[in-house]
Amino acid sequence: MVFQATTSAPVNIACIKYWGKRDTSLILPTNSSLSVTLDQDHLRSTTTSRADPSFTSDRLWLNGKEEIVKDGGRMSTCIKEMKRLRKELVEDKDPKAPQLSTFSVHIASYNNFPTAAGLASSASGFAALVSSLAALYALPCPPTTLSLIARQGSGSACRSLLGGFVAWEQGSQSNGLDSHAVQVAPESHWPTMHALICVVNDAKKGTSSTSGMQRTVETSPLLQHRIKHVVPQRMIDISKAILEKDFDSFARITMADSNQFHAVALDTSPPIFYMNDVSRAIIAVVEEYNRVAVETTGKVKAAYTFDAGPNAVIYTEEANVKEIIEMIVKFFPQQEKFKDPFGLFGAQGLGEG
Ligand code: PMV
Repeated sequence: MVFQATTSAPVNIACIKYWGKRDTSLILPTNSSLSVTLDQDHLRSTTTSRADPSFTSDRLWLNGKEEIVKDGGRMSTCIKEMKRLRKELVEDKDPKAPQLSTFSVHIASYNNFPTAAGLASSASGFAALVSSLAALYALPCPPTTLSLIARQGSGSACRSLLGGFVAWEQGSQSNGLDSHAVQVAPESHWPTMHALICVVNDAKKGTSSTSGMQRTVETSPLLQHRIKHVVPQRMIDISKAILEKDFDSFARITMADSNQFHAVALDTSPPIFYMNDVSRAIIAVVEEYNRVAVETTGKVKAAYTFDAGPNAVIYTEEANVKEIIEMIVKFFPQQEKFKDPFGLFGAQGLGEG
């Protein structure tokens, strides 16, 4: 008998950024965060897991290249936790069930976009890993439970197990059992919302989120202000904006939070620069576009946000997608790729010109 399962998980792009861990081994964050999970058709990781009694160790191939599964590392923690759930929830209850928790697994994962370029590849990667093992092990678990395990692979991965608008509640318990993802609203709640991915540079990023966060937690006074006095209210306000489909508020909070996250990176010692000149030019173009929109309608029409890399994501509503793509391509004409992960337009892209 072959024990194998394949599943996919999409990338999510945070509007309220997770940056900082209070527990580095369980991956418990210093603040709650909120993101939009992109649809399955575009940026995603697809993962196949196979269990077999002939396998002698857990092994992983990422985009065709074998990666070491280090004992005690994040990958091995996720695999171990999934085996524990298989034993507890399936094998202990039904002694006739195949004892898959005792077999080693071989896992192959592919990203259909650049890995580790600030496009949240670790989020979709760990989410797809956990969901493929959940399918292989036939676990009767809701996504929220699985998000507890994906979180231990990469914090932001916990949000990719749910679709639509997703909050990661930081929780307060030291065992992390209340630090998981919850859906604020499904994608169908706001189907006119689009995310335009502007690939400024798809090279691997300079400072990993793990070492960047650690340095920020240790050295940035602004981070302390952010986690105590800024994020809690933003979480409430952006959830309300989403539930009311209030794009203007959603966009203003998203841009402010991206800017504060990059200010916190700059406030780190030594400072971390994730954006580059092209990123800053995109901010200027979107700010000017919004200034004109506010003059005529009183409301902004686009929101930029940047993760730990130079690539921009622009959130907007369907009616403005074409206009924004034309504007970006006009200002950044030399680019090759420009993707709309919600699927309306293929397009050109950005580069560092
Ligand atoms: O989950 P990590 O370690 O890749 O950290 C992600 C951090 C940001 O992408 C910058 C913000 C976020 O909330 O996704």
